[in-house]
Amino acid sequence: MSIDYSQKIPNNVDLASNKTLQRALEHWQPAYLDWWNEMGPDKTTTAEVYLRTAISVDPSGWAHFDYVRMPDYRWGIFLAPQEAGRVVNFGEHKGQAAWQEVPGEYRSTLRRIIVTQGDTEPASVEQQRHLGMTCPSLYDMRNLFQVNVEEGRHLWAMVYLLHAHFGRDGREEGEALLERRSGDADNPRILTAFNEKTPDWLSFFMFTFITDRDGKFQLAALAESGFDPLSRTCRFMLTEEAHHLFVGESGISRIIQRTCEVMAQHKTDDPAKLRAMGVIDLPTLQKYLNFHYSVTSDLYGAEISSNAASFYTNGLKGRYEETKLGDDHRLDSAEYPVMEVVGDRIITKHVPALTALNERLRDDWVKDVQGGIDRWNKVPEKLGIPFRFALPHKGFHRKIGIFGELHLSPEGKVISEAEWTHKHRDWLPTEEDRAFVQSLMGRVAEPGKFANWISPPARGINNQPVDFEYVRFN
Ligand SMILES: [Fe+2]
Ligand SMILES: [Fe+2]
Repeated sequence: MSIDYSQKIPNNVDLASNKTLQRALEHWQPAYLDWWNEMGPDKTTTAEVYLRTAISVDPSGWAHFDYVRMPDYRWGIFLAPQEAGRVVNFGEHKGQAAWQEVPGEYRSTLRRIIVTQGDTEPASVEQQRHLGMTCPSLYDMRNLFQVNVEEGRHLWAMVYLLHAHFGRDGREEGEALLERRSGDADNPRILTAFNEKTPDWLSFFMFTFITDRDGKFQLAALAESGFDPLSRTCRFMLTEEAHHLFVGESGISRIIQRTCEVMAQHKTDDPAKLRAMGVIDLPTLQKYLNFHYSVTSDLYGAEISSNAASFYTNGLKGRYEETKLGDDHRLDSAEYPVMEVVGDRIITKHVPALTALNERLRDDWVKDVQGGIDRWNKVPEKLGIPFRFALPHKGFHRKIGIFGELHLSPEGKVISEAEWTHKHRDWLPTEEDRAFVQSLMGRVAEPGKFANWISPPARGINNQPVDFEYVRFN
């Protein structure tokens, strides 16, 4: 089903047939635009950006590219097609027809799940709102804005679910999603990582590589939901999310490429010399990786969680690729390994798998992050540079769960408060590191030009050349 763009709210859910819902969403729309104008990308109202817009949700042709002024972007509601005969695939309702309406007993839990996911979408736009001013190229600026408009659409998708299935409470939650602000002392976003600043492009690329990847895994788990509208919503969001991950992974890869070229050319690995030449030394990149990885890891919650168990048993949130897993999909007697700290030793113990679903999803994410790190490591390898990036231990710099009260080194050694205080500057970005990265940020907005600290991409967007005019200023 293709999407009718002559409608006030483009959609593929036959919104016109439900006047009450249509009116409610049309009432929310101006509030959304006010939020975009206030908190969306700074000083970009008249810029024309080469953006893709979904014109249908078919795998073959959902991305259409053209110049768009962002306030005119056609945000809307797109759900993946309904699968005939879909059933609940796990938990105590396994085998029953998937729910098209919210089951009464799960109403408040489902609403909370949707609101928590929905809140991350506008939060990231807020976190990134100033980055356009310091873009390393037009190509990168365009990618940032693509991510931003799609996070805006993800908010639309979640607000549609709230309006369509949660009545008055849902509408109130929809308004509250536009009222919270990332980093606000009085009314912050729900999750901690979404209240951190994204002050520079290194942070932005790390965020899209690591934190958008948390989004991928959360959405994938919700795409398994027995509540079919949530599943269909998340399935389409996942297709958009893939580009966000690409932006992050390729962005960092291009920074590594540039640094390694300068290292090879000048035969040095001295951070001070490299910084003087205007590139980001590899140990600093590792510190940013440590930071974003540990902060994002906390988003999965505690290793052992009775909430996660009931989300699963009730059929609300599955495991990553649930239907591809070859077990009973009930987990009545299955076990799963989690870490435990005994004195200053870390051991592995087996716990009921149902209670360890947060940890399992975190592990799936870790594997996926590691895949990206392995690809990054090919860059120094090719240039004969011995440096390799590595993920810190799972317990490093954690605030939530079994490691929350402890200090661990990146290698996973339990250390004292004093040792942490002494060493953490070697492991996490310091004020000086951040100030240095900040000092490199200057706007490069001429087609085909790139900031000194990042290599051009191998190819452009949608088969356009790298020096294409991805953003036009008027
Ligand atoms: Fe998103
Ligand atoms: Fe995203």
